[in-house]
Amino acid sequence: MEPLTLALAKGRTAVDSLAMLENAGITFPNFHKDSRKLVFYSADQKIKMLYVKALDVTTYVEEGAADIGIVGRDNILEAGADVYELLDLQLGKCKFVVASMKDIDLTKRTSLKVASKYPVVAKQFFHKQGIQATTIKLNGSVELAPMIDMADCIVDIVETGTTIKENGLQIITDVEDISTRVVVNKASFATKTAEIQSFINSMKNSLEA
Ligand code: PRP
Repeated sequence: MEPLTLALAKGRTAVDSLAMLENAGITFPNFHKDSRKLVFYSADQKIKMLYVKALDVTTYVEEGAADIGIVGRDNILEAGADVYELLDLQLGKCKFVVASMKDIDLTKRTSLKVASKYPVVAKQFFHKQGIQATTIKLNGSVELAPMIDMADCIVDIVETGTTIKENGLQIITDVEDISTRVVVNKASFATKTAEIQSFINSMKNSLEA
């Protein structure tokens, strides 16, 4: 039988995701996080893992190059990915927030300049509030933008709250909770239902253990 292909997000949550896979009996003997290899097979050869940038996981899954993806909900939302989201792994818990240097009353604003690594999420959020958002896409250190008056506010991830605090920003409002999810390609789910269901059940058991 062909192995299931799993796209796993590199980065902060990779080690925890791999630990959860291991608890589910899925181990990758040749994997170590500093390896430059991009493809790893599980000990039983049933899973082929593509070790890829978090932002790209949903692309591999949507394209059908991977049957399954393990990635943060932040990246799923930003990609607007057309995939099934089947399981919350409860890892990498954090949230999207709007933050600024000054107190902004969102009910009184009709337009805002917003810096974010997640311009799609930002635009959608402000659109729902009836606010026209002009977005500035940044790739990191987003907290800087309101500090230097490049933007009114940011939409960014808060985990411990340290970055916001150390840079003198305040949370204006929460946007959405985030955690690591299992996503599945829609066609794969139709053609490999039993294997995918078995993978999901193993992960669920690992989660409950
Ligand atoms: C993320 C996020 C915040 C910070 C939040 O950035 O964009 O800046 O972490 O974490 P905290 O609430 O625990 O302080 P990341 O560390 O990925 O670095 P970046 O600024 O280069 O994107």
